[in-house]
Amino acid sequence: MSGVELRNVTKAFGKAVAVRNLDLTVGKGEFLALLGPSGCGKTTTLRMIAGFTRPDSGEILIDGQPVSSLSVRERRVGIVFQSYALFPNMTAFENIAFGLRVRKLPEEEVRSRVFRLLEMVGLEDKANANCRQLSGGQQQRVALARALAIEPRVLLLDEPLSALDAKVRNSLRFEIKKIQRESGITTIYVTHDQEEALSISDRVAVMRSGQIEQAGTPWEVYANPSSLFVADFVGVSNFLDVEVKAGGTVFWNDRPLEVEGAGSLAPGPWRLVIRPERLLPVPKDAQEKNILEGTVAGRVFLGPIQRVALDVGKERILVDLLNTEKGHLSPGEPLRVSFSPGDGRLIRRS
Ligand SMILES: Nc1ncnc2c1ncn2[C@@H]1O[C@H](COP(=O)(O)OP(=O)(O)O)[C@@H](O)[C@H]1O
Ligand SMILES: [Mg+2]
Repeated sequence: MSGVELRNVTKAFGKAVAVRNLDLTVGKGEFLALLGPSGCGKTTTLRMIAGFTRPDSGEILIDGQPVSSLSVRERRVGIVFQSYALFPNMTAFENIAFGLRVRKLPEEEVRSRVFRLLEMVGLEDKANANCRQLSGGQQQRVALARALAIEPRVLLLDEPLSALDAKVRNSLRFEIKKIQRESGITTIYVTHDQEEALSISDRVAVMRSGQIEQAGTPWEVYANPSSLFVADFVGVSNFLDVEVKAGGTVFWNDRPLEVEGAGSLAPGPWRLVIRPERLLPVPKDAQEKNILEGTVAGRVFLGPIQRVALDVGKERILVDLLNTEKGHLSPGEPLRVSFSPGDGRLIRRS
């Protein structure tokens, strides 16, 4: 049985179709990241699962049960939004207790559950703090505890960390993942941040214009993008316009390259996708396959790596070099890199 299933779901606002014939299955206990650019329909999808928005057509199931006739509360989903959306003038404790009191749980149980949750999100000592005295990160912890309090069947998070600064975002990201793993709640995490999606989820569904473009493990989606859109949106890629000749030889401009799998492709124009970290520096006299030789045009220092813009003939490619003992490369210096035939991915050019 799946945790959440959307079958052929469509939702339009006037003439604008926000979600189009969307099919998506999230396994029970799975952590799925719904990743896509702004406006692609992520929030609309989440709101339909939660019950705030009604689909025009299609069906949504939670734990195998169709939910179209159920209210938001009856669906038993926990929701965390980007803006903290806590009840103002209430303490952290009262915010988390709210849903339990609505459900008329005995006060004894409310107390023990709330304290357990406060401990889970690392806020044991903030039970009586007014929400407005809490930092952004702490408020999102309260929001997460509040969402979990009702023991939801599904946890829905809509860009919950995007208003926070980078340090807090990183630490909270891993806490959310840890809590999810311990509780085993089916989770859908909406984000436009590909790094966040890759690092937090069991599976990533990349969304574009109201549809799922590709779904797979973070590794699959990153290493084996099924379209140029995914290759471009997830991570950084070099795109080389190449010609595949009969027999599988690949030409980039006049340079022959060897790419795994090219022999089985239809001859014609293709695009070769290579991740910058798959281009490895080689010494002058190296005999490696697929050597690209160029001149450093510039570089960006990114901490553990330097991202080098390399001019090869008239084209510019990006190369990620680990910041080891080699030191910095300066503009104008020559650099030779190569990639192995298995590290290039050919996608049809249209
Ligand atoms: N309540 C609404 N009324 C009209 N248009 C909407 C409404 N909600 C969303 N849309 C439109 O639907 C599309 C998808 O929006 P949304 O689901 O919020 O995308 P995302 O969360 O991926 O940024 C956008 O073009 C947006 O303008
Ligand atoms: Mg949104």
